[in-house]
Amino acid sequence: MIDIENLTRKFDDFTAVDNLTFHINEREVFGFLGPNGAGKTTTMRMLSCLISKTSGEAKIAGYDISDEADSKKIRKIIGLLPENVGLYDDLTAYKNLDFYAKLYECSISQRKENIEYFLKLLGLWDKREVLVGTFSKGMKQKLAITRALIHDPQILFLDEPTANLDP
Ligand SMILES: Nc1ncnc2c1ncn2[C@@H]1O[C@H](COP(=O)(O)OP(=O)(O)OP(=O)(O)O)[C@@H](O)[C@H]1O
Ligand SMILES: [Mg+2]
Repeated sequence: MIDIENLTRKFDDFTAVDNLTFHINEREVFGFLGPNGAGKTTTMRMLSCLISKTSGEAKIAGYDISDEADSKKIRKIIGLLPENVGLYDDLTAYKNLDFYAKLYECSISQRKENIEYFLKLLGLWDKREVLVGTFSKGMKQKLAITRALIHDPQILFLDEPTANLDP
């Protein structure tokens, strides 16, 4: 499902990801661990087609991250919880999710159903009409987790998913 061979990313002379190779199967939960600055976020950004690779190969569900047409298909089938949540502070929780779900071209029924399901699951349904700018860090993290799931992705990338969450 995720096949990476010698994936490398340089920023000028600095090598942030150095010849990374691994394979992840369908239905597998893969923990990607390393010290601060090891290159985890950089790897996830390459696999999510947010930044380019310097060399090596990476395929997501058979699609090549460095092929422009393939990268659009990859974006459709992945969900991403980024390191920085990047939500709209002056929209409500509900409107944030509805906005992103529209970008993913979810149908009205899928949007309604998933927003309600995940907000209830994470205990934010009562806060759905509240502006996100007033949310605590953990509440924003939960909302960003919901956003990553809103379009029923086949693959989920979670960068520091437990950050700011209570036990
Ligand atoms: N845009 C950039 N320009 C220059 N250097 C960068 C850039 N992005 C990342 N780096 C460098 O690449 C290295 C890996 O960073 P990255 O954010 O991938 O680490 P990480 O494993 O996610 O760390 P953390 O656990 O702290 O989140 C770091 O030394 C960082 O400074
Ligand atoms: Mg990181």
